[in-house]
Amino acid sequence: MRKPFIAGNWKMNMDSASSVALAAGLAKELENVETVDVAVCPPFVYTQSVSAALSASNIAVGAQDVYFEGKGAFTGEISCDMLKDTGCTYVLAGHSERRHVIGETDELINQKVTAAIDSGLLPILCVGELLEERQAEKTTEVVAEQVKKGLAGLCNERVQAVTIAYEPVWAIGTGLTATPEQAQEVHAMIRGLLAELYDEDIAQTLRIQYGGSAKPGNTAELMAQPDVDGLLVGGASLKVEDFAAMVKTVA
Ligand code: 13P
Repeated sequence: MRKPFIAGNWKMNMDSASSVALAAGLAKELENVETVDVAVCPPFVYTQSVSAALSASNIAVGAQDVYFEGKGAFTGEISCDMLKDTGCTYVLAGHSERRHVIGETDELINQKVTAAIDSGLLPILCVGELLEERQAEKTTEVVAEQVKKGLAGLCNERVQAVTIAYEPVWAIGTGLTATPEQAQEVHAMIRGLLAELYDEDIAQTLRIQYGGSAKPGNTAELMAQPDVDGLLVGGASLKVEDFAAMVKTVA
C-alpha cells in the first residue's frame, strides 16, 4: 500500500514573515494527520526558517532545485549537503519551469536526481508534456523518455528513494486540470514503465504524484484514481486553508 504524499511547491513566492506564518499555520492545522506524508518546498532562502517553524510537526521540507556538484566554484548554486543542513528532506528535480524556462536537460536532471540520492535526499522527479506534444499524441513518448532519462543509471535499491510527479505543462498554473482519467492514463503508463525498467515490486512501491491546478475541489477525484498516489501543488499550497483542506481530504 502506497502512503499518499502531498507536497506544496511554493515556487518564487512568499517572504520571510509570510513563509514562516504559512508553515506555522499548516503545522497547527495538520497536527493530527498521520496517514499522509506532507512536505512543503519553499524558496532556498527560506528553507531554514521554515524547517525551524515545522520542527515539531510531521511536515517535511523540500527544496525546489539543487546542483549536483558537492562544493566549489559554482556561483549561485546550492548543494545537497547545504539543503540537508537547512533541514530539507526532499528536493524537486526537473520541474517543468526549470526544463522550459531555465532550459534544464534530462541529462542535468539525472545528475541532480543521482546526487540527491547519493546524499540521502529524496528526489521528486517531475515530468510532463507540453500542450503541443499532447495535441500531437506524443504524451506517452515524451513522458516515458523523461522518466527513463531522469532515472538513468539508478539501480533497484537506489531508485526507491524517488517520487515521480506527473505535471502536464498545459495544466500548470492555468486553471486547466487534467481530468482524473487523463492523469490515471499517464500514471498507469509510468508505473508500467517502472515495472519494465526495474520490477513489479518497485513499480508498486514508488509513488506517483499528479500536479497541475490541483486544488481542494478536485483533490478527491484525482486521488480516487488507482495510480495517483499524491499531489504536487503550486498555487493552492500558498494558502493554509486550501492546502490543509487538500491534505485532510486525502487523510
Ligand atoms: P499549480 O498547482 O499552480 O498549477 O502548479 C503546479 C506545479 O507546478 C507544482 O509543482
